[in-house]
Amino acid sequence: MPRDASTDKPLVELVNITKIYPPDIVALEDVSLRIYKGEILFLTGMSGAGKTTLIKLLFCLETPTRGLIEIAGRDLFRLSPVGIQQMRQKIGVAYQDFRLLDKQTVFQNIAMAMEVTYASAKEIRVRVGELLDLLNLASKRNKPVGELSRGEQQRVALARAAANRPTLLLADEPTGNLDQTTTELVINLFRRLNEEDGSTIVVATHDESIYAKTEHRVVELHNGQLAAHLEQTPRQVELF
Ligand SMILES: Nc1ncnc2c1ncn2[C@@H]1O[C@H](COP(=O)(O)OP(=O)(O)OP(=O)(O)O)[C@@H](O)[C@H]1O
Ligand SMILES: [Mg+2]
Repeated sequence: MPRDASTDKPLVELVNITKIYPPDIVALEDVSLRIYKGEILFLTGMSGAGKTTLIKLLFCLETPTRGLIEIAGRDLFRLSPVGIQQMRQKIGVAYQDFRLLDKQTVFQNIAMAMEVTYASAKEIRVRVGELLDLLNLASKRNKPVGELSRGEQQRVALARAAANRPTLLLADEPTGNLDQTTTELVINLFRRLNEEDGSTIVVATHDESIYAKTEHRVVELHNGQLAAHLEQTPRQVELF
């Protein structure tokens, strides 16, 4: 996605975010970060560095102890419950622990995300079919999710997050259970969403293979602190 980072307002802005879990676990410390519209950003760092905490803050699943988060210019923690709901409809999240409904089928799990936006049955059928093809899951369409492998469940979680072509996609450790070939399918999905739908994508990962050669921005959390500099300019290259 072409963009001009010098004049664009960031889609996401974190200002001096600290998150302390009770009683005294400092998960994030004074993190400031701008994420621009159309950007793909890799959020890296060792286990326990604070990646999932940051993702949860962006989806209002946790509140910061200190600091400010704005998405599209709106202060997240001043939103009304309805405002949060509306904001969440524009964000797709693939959780590290998937959070799928095990007894529901693959189709139902993905369709559910679209039903709440009042998409038609036909739109849902077409979009879910497309995502299942992209992620090599078509043969699992009618299987209960609980009967799938971890790697298959992971892809269902990603398909659900991508279903509504979200403005912002948050993918937490999206390739943790995947082999190289399947990882490439996931990267392809991100690329398509980014290029065709203009989605801004944040990938939290410690899988170096998916960001080692990327031309997109990589920021690193280290014990809850951002190692890469806050004002690092997003690079404007199309390839991963
Ligand atoms: N709900 C919670 N209550 C208390 N401490 C928590 C909670 N969630 C996370 N933490 C702590 O906050 C720190 C950051 O955790 P977080 O899950 O954000 O790390 P992460 O970078 O996602 O790690 P991983 O790569 O293992 O997924 C860790 O020390 C963790 O133990
Ligand atoms: Mg995590």
